[in-house]
Amino acid sequence: MPDTAHQPPYYSNAPVALVIGCGDMGVGCARVLGRRRPLLLADIDSQRLEASVASLADEGYLVSGTECDITDPASVRELAGQLSGVGGVEVLAHVAAVAGAAIGWRRVMEVDLLGAHRVADAVSPAMQPGGVAVLISSTGSYQCPVDARIESLLDAPLQPGFIDKLAEAFGREPDFLEAYFMAKQGINRLARRLALEWGPRQIRAVSVSPGLINTSMGRTSGAKTPLFDGQGNKHLVTRDVKAAREVPLGRQGSVLEIVDVVDFLASGAASFITGIDIPVDGGSTARLRSLGLISR
Ligand SMILES: NC(=O)c1ccc[n+]([C@@H]2O[C@H](COP(=O)([O-])OP(=O)(O)OC[C@H]3O[C@@H](n4cnc5c(N)ncnc54)[C@H](O)[C@@H]3O)[C@@H](O)[C@H]2O)c1
Repeated sequence: MPDTAHQPPYYSNAPVALVIGCGDMGVGCARVLGRRRPLLLADIDSQRLEASVASLADEGYLVSGTECDITDPASVRELAGQLSGVGGVEVLAHVAAVAGAAIGWRRVMEVDLLGAHRVADAVSPAMQPGGVAVLISSTGSYQCPVDARIESLLDAPLQPGFIDKLAEAFGREPDFLEAYFMAKQGINRLARRLALEWGPRQIRAVSVSPGLINTSMGRTSGAKTPLFDGQGNKHLVTRDVKAAREVPLGRQGSVLEIVDVVDFLASGAASFITGIDIPVDGGSTARLRSLGLISR
């Protein structure tokens, strides 16, 4: 596992902000979280990881990186093993996910849901009192079916046969978007579970649900994205058209508008906020709710 270290020795025992996933949003989170604590970045993509670490180090951040595939239990254990050496974790920003219709629904579940559970369980012993986990979800989480059997499966995705049981509870194999919605609802529920488990240790857990955000993932996965017309019909349109029609603020959000919320949640100003999801969506869930298209 190649490591890229740029961390001065006097920081070697300070608790870190651990950022899982170095896409646009992960690096944005690193930029705000790294202003107050050393950074440890993890990603499956070694080139992207090295480029992110190098560019943050050039900007003056105390940063190191470690390659990690969150779908691989051994790789996640190896990541967790490094955390005692860095004095534990003050902030876990779990950002990694995959998206795109070309990615099979099973892979979406493996990365977006099982990966997050694996990371949270492995990092848990290293979380420091006063710390927080911020799990990046999606407003798609609100479009997951309200169904007790599905929800109880989403709460325990590491059980044997989970993927097949989920397809059975859903009634068929979900498509990519349906799987993404369920995986992200699972993320909101994971934040709630962690808040209960970690509360007595004075550790918080929150999920953040971005709406339409102008990132490279969004641009790639959402070249065509569904637009709900209010009559129960769905049309495929570009993200800008969707934003103009579906987002009450009339536009896509920016990465900065997400990472500012992450920064707030990691700060003392949010010290009594735990166990909830915070949509950051320009009002799009409010609109879907008003149209009766979501009931969460
Ligand atoms: N962009 C949007 O409009 C939007 C909207 C809602 C939610 N989100 C969420 O925001 C988050 C980040 O979005 P982004 O635009 O930065 O995405 P991105 O694709 O740019 O970054 C995701 C990162 O996760 C990494 N990753 C993928 N599989 C991995 C694995 N198995 N192990 C470790 N790392 C892995 C990728 O290499 C990549 O660096 C995601 O959770 C996404 O679901 C984005």
